[in-house]
Amino acid sequence: MPTKGKRWLLVKHFDGFPKESDMRLEEFDLPELKDGEILMEAEYLSVDPYMRPYSATSSLNTVMIGQQVAKVIESRNEDFPVGTWTLPFTGWTTHSASTGKDLMKMPPLPEGIPRSYTIGSLGMTGVTAYFGLLDITDPKPGETVLVSGAAGAVGNVVGQIAKIKGCRVIGSAGSEEKLEYLKELGFDEVFNYKTTPNLDAKLKELAPDGIDVYFDNVGGEFATTAVQNMKIGGRISCCGSISAYNLKETQLLPALFGVMVRNHLKMQGFNVMQYITRWKEAVTQLGKWVGEGKLKVKEHRTDGIKNMFKAFTELFTGANTGKAIIKA
Ligand SMILES: NC(=O)c1ccc[n+]([C@@H]2O[C@H](COP(=O)([O-])OP(=O)(O)OC[C@H]3O[C@@H](n4cnc5c(N)ncnc54)[C@H](OP(=O)(O)O)[C@@H]3O)[C@@H](O)[C@H]2O)c1
Repeated sequence: MPTKGKRWLLVKHFDGFPKESDMRLEEFDLPELKDGEILMEAEYLSVDPYMRPYSATSSLNTVMIGQQVAKVIESRNEDFPVGTWTLPFTGWTTHSASTGKDLMKMPPLPEGIPRSYTIGSLGMTGVTAYFGLLDITDPKPGETVLVSGAAGAVGNVVGQIAKIKGCRVIGSAGSEEKLEYLKELGFDEVFNYKTTPNLDAKLKELAPDGIDVYFDNVGGEFATTAVQNMKIGGRISCCGSISAYNLKETQLLPALFGVMVRNHLKMQGFNVMQYITRWKEAVTQLGKWVGEGKLKVKEHRTDGIKNMFKAFTELFTGANTGKAIIKA
């Protein structure tokens, strides 16, 4: 039984691009359990872009927020015997104690499905793609769907679901390797937004009749231009705006109100946690698609919690293709 764990504390709120001095990796003594408590050990930890904006309201010198795959290694709670697999939101730590209240157990996984998928395509990011596309935009066969951040954890699942639903899918990503990956997944059109000199012209070339559904992972100027290219009756799912997360000042972009009115557009933001009561519905369907080979899963793995800060910042430089995870 280990006696010490490792954890990352947030010691300074991020200002601009996250700096290693904003966080501290420390060793800590594992707690003695009280009646009703369990001790969990992380197997995989998740790094996600939301940690950048959401940590702005975290107290300093507390463990950085996040979800993980963990195993109960000591138990004084009969509902969580030793060996139980869980999906706690206990943050960037190798070990954590819990009373089991509000603790998610890992759903039973079909043979051959790795546990790490439960914090990716069969977990938070997959569920985000599922409801953010299907519930918010209701895509129809034959419609044109544009996905930004398409080679990332949420984006690749959005594109694959849109293909399953019979749509024509356009994906944008930041490198040629990512474009190759998207083509392998069956995206109809792909382009590198970093080397596209005129985004408006590119969208007009790839979607001459306009875009029916835009799934926005990036916000900023990209989203503004995409919305100007929507068809009448188009729907926009506002999932995230990673292009703005490290900016020091709020961006003032050209107003969208004209095109919203002219083209009868519907734009809706969402937070995946609003779907917590329907989580199982999404994970069941996503798991079925994975089993049928219709939904492919890609992970970008980093070894060791000591490298977790680096893996986090790499989300903002685009080093990851697929879901970024840490093997503890
Ligand atoms: N609403 C919700 O409940 C919810 C839940 C989960 C995630 N999200 C949001 O969904 C988006 C994607 O999250 P994810 O977990 O799937 O992350 P991800 O796409 O796996 O990783 C981030 C990717 O964003 C791209 N990126 C980084 N900086 C960028 C910039 N300035 N402009 C354009 N692209 C940039 C990079 O890819 P490139 O190489 O292509 O640039 C990078 O690989 C984020 O905005 C996140 O906050 C929202």
